[in-house]
Amino acid sequence: MESLTHIYAAKVASGALKADPAQEAVLPLLDEVRDALRAAPRGKSGLLSLIGGRKPPPRIKGLYLWGGVGRGKSMLMDLFHEHSPVPSRRVHFHAFMQEVQAGIHAARKQGVEDAIAPVVEQVAKDIRLLCFDEMQITDIADAMIVGRLFEGLFKRGVTVVTTSNRVPDDLYKDGLNRQLFLPFIALIKERLTVHHLHSPVDYRQGRLTGTPVYFHPLNDSARAAVSSIWDDLTGGQTAGLTLHVKGRDVTLPRFHNGIARATFWDLCAQMYGPADYLAIADAVKLLILEEVPRLSRSNFNEAKRFVTLVDALYEAKVRLVVTAVDEPERLYIEGAGAFEFERTASRLREMQDVHWGQE
Ligand SMILES: Nc1ncnc2c1ncn2[C@@H]1O[C@H](COP(=O)(O)OP(=O)(O)OP(=O)(O)O)[C@@H](O)[C@H]1O
Ligand SMILES: [Mg+2]
Repeated sequence: MESLTHIYAAKVASGALKADPAQEAVLPLLDEVRDALRAAPRGKSGLLSLIGGRKPPPRIKGLYLWGGVGRGKSMLMDLFHEHSPVPSRRVHFHAFMQEVQAGIHAARKQGVEDAIAPVVEQVAKDIRLLCFDEMQITDIADAMIVGRLFEGLFKRGVTVVTTSNRVPDDLYKDGLNRQLFLPFIALIKERLTVHHLHSPVDYRQGRLTGTPVYFHPLNDSARAAVSSIWDDLTGGQTAGLTLHVKGRDVTLPRFHNGIARATFWDLCAQMYGPADYLAIADAVKLLILEEVPRLSRSNFNEAKRFVTLVDALYEAKVRLVVTAVDEPERLYIEGAGAFEFERTASRLREMQDVHWGQE
């Protein structure tokens, strides 16, 4: 089996990747997990399990890869997943937790007492490796179940490789009832090797540097420009992501590796409020927002939501790529709300700076 170190080197040689020593330092760690997975016997042998003589599955330490945005964590994890020697599943934190919460809900409805158990069973039954992108816990409902969820997965012999922007000790920082969450942090440190991907380069920023990120007017060339940014950053993925916020569904029509693409109408013509926009800002590193129209009294509610969206993105330092009818300062020039929009326009302007959003 060719090592990831070799596969990475081949990609550097072909020009697909730039050689990055901090990324290269991660490859032996991933290769180690890979070798252990390949060498380990399968957790259950059919016959032994029939007579109840199942051996406990082997304990293979996973990896917790953390660091700043755009450093290549997801790229490395994808490489690892793609070349996994065992059945593997790659999930995004938000999508996965939705699936888990739905599973728990269904089990409870059927009167199952330990509602997490069937969910663990379902997730673990076909895989030995779970690649978990963007571990980030802000929601108390998630915080209260991840510990038992992961404990269950580990017991079933599932190895976890995960990426995060935070060191484990900072997960769910300042969260409600955080003391109940601390055993999860201890579990992570015990079962995963924690490694900081300490690269100075934000490759995502690099890809955008020199590229305009605000396009107007709305015409074919603006549309083509953002399509090519999307394709460059995501390989042209078409899957979406639905966030569950306080019982509401907030849908990002396209989402991949923290990059989302939506129209103004997708996000500002729905009955979304501040909590929804905060959830979007939290889930997304870069948003491509298309078709921002002229704003005025006639679309006052949409305009107000747009202001809230931009505020949330700004606070969370989300990169923004926009297509709009006009320049920020000329989007909302008359009617109630025009004055308040000045701050939004100024933020939209500031967010166009190539250095904006860098740590
Ligand atoms: N060595 C490299 N050479 C060229 N491009 C790279 C390199 N490493 C990463 N990239 C590209 O940079 C972009 C950002 O990488 P990636 O999504 O893996 O970052 P990340 O660390 O997961 O960031 P985040 O924390 O925001 O999720 C991707 O498009 C990726 O393909
Ligand atoms: Mg990532």
